[in-house]
Amino acid sequence: MTPHPVLAHRYAQPEERPGYVKQLFDQGAEHYDPVVGWGFFGTGNLYRKYAQARHGLKPGMNLLDVACGTGLMSVAASQVLGSDKTITCVEPSDGMLAVARKKLPGATFIQSGAEKMPVEDSTQDFLTVGYALRHFADLTGTFREFHRVLKPGGRVLILEATRPAGKIGSWLFKLYFGIVYPFFARLLTRSKKAEEMMVYFWETMDTCVRPEAVVSALKAAGFQDARRIATLGVFSEYVAVKA
Ligand SMILES: C[S@@+](CC[C@H](N)C(=O)[O-])C[C@H]1O[C@@H](n2cnc3c(N)ncnc32)[C@H](O)[C@@H]1O
Repeated sequence: MTPHPVLAHRYAQPEERPGYVKQLFDQGAEHYDPVVGWGFFGTGNLYRKYAQARHGLKPGMNLLDVACGTGLMSVAASQVLGSDKTITCVEPSDGMLAVARKKLPGATFIQSGAEKMPVEDSTQDFLTVGYALRHFADLTGTFREFHRVLKPGGRVLILEATRPAGKIGSWLFKLYFGIVYPFFARLLTRSKKAEEMMVYFWETMDTCVRPEAVVSALKAAGFQDARRIATLGVFSEYVAVKA
């Protein structure tokens, strides 16, 4: 199951999507942290840390941070783990990786997409994805890959921003992420690339499959106790366990 349909005004075929997304994040990488920091009013790190601790991340665990980007999930995780030495970051974009490497000197980095990762079977205690599931080629297939690399009893935690179901919430969400956020991203950075990255962020959120489909894909991939915990109908935490 693809997380969203082809966005024909950006790329013509599904196979062109990874290349399109890679250049978008390569070119926007230097602006990602300031823009995200501003857009979520500086709460992002605290929320990422709190969510990982709340869902069972503990010192001593091996963590695989998939689609690590500039390392925001991993930096927050290292504060829970007490170190970054047991963290492995997976990310396809050179630009995003370059920023992440500077922040996490003890972590291991793998340049790869999430769909097929050069990671041994049953080696990870905890797997995270922060705001990236919309970019995966296929949800069920990618979740099978997550299931493969987790140890029995290992957990997956996927954070995502979701368009609310109600009309007013959905309208406010669109106003903020579709118009206000890209506008201020451009104003703050003076970069068209940063604005484009945030417009794409919005377009993929707008067209993303609904939460029930994400939970079904986790179940179809073999996970147990797959569920979504939502705050304000917007901040989704998808969690599941490998039996
Ligand atoms: C919005 S950023 C999220 C970064 C970080 N996880 C965070 O919490 O801020 C999305 C990231 O997903 C990465 N990405 C895009 N396609 C991917 C894929 N197929 N597999 C893994 N990561 C991908 C992008 O390069 C980008 O760094």
